[in-house]
Amino acid sequence: MRLRFLPVVLLVLMPSVVFATADGAWLRRVPDEDRARKNPVAGQAAAIRVGEGLFHENCARCHGVDADGRTTRPSLRSARIRGASDGSLLWMLRNGNPYKGMPPAQALTEPQRWQVIAYLRSLPASKK
Ligand code: HEC
Repeated sequence: MRLRFLPVVLLVLMPSVVFATADGAWLRRVPDEDRARKNPVAGQAAAIRVGEGLFHENCARCHGVDADGRTTRPSLRSARIRGASDGSLLWMLRNGNPYKGMPPAQALTEPQRWQVIAYLRSLPASKK
């Protein structure tokens, strides 16, 4: 009775169907002037330190404590994110992508968002 395994197969496949994987489509919606914005605290040790705390409070539960992604929540150390401009990441934090489960970072002010981005830039590339 091979059909016996069907429920198991469906259970394994379902999450990938229900939660479409992150494809970076949002990057195409970022307006040019947002993409071009520069992080005023890029590379600053104090900002990176504060950003780390903010990341753990606001982002780690979905993206993982190491920011390398969890289940359907993408790594923030991927080639895509490392290649995206700081301005594009700020745009994503302001707007989110609610239809795909990424909430806008409403709890954070703009300076705090830049600090989180400075922290993400300090992390090593994903080995996945
Ligand atoms: C409730 C879970 C959740 C929280 C909290 C969350 N995210 Fe996300 N995030 C997601 C999901 C799901 C996606 C995939 C969205 C997509 O594909 O467009 C995503 C996508 C992203 C992306 C784009 C990734 C890519 O590869 O395209 C960035 C950047 C990002 N999140 C940063 C953050 C930061 C920084 C925080 C904290 C301020 C945060 N997220 C908080 C769920 C979350």
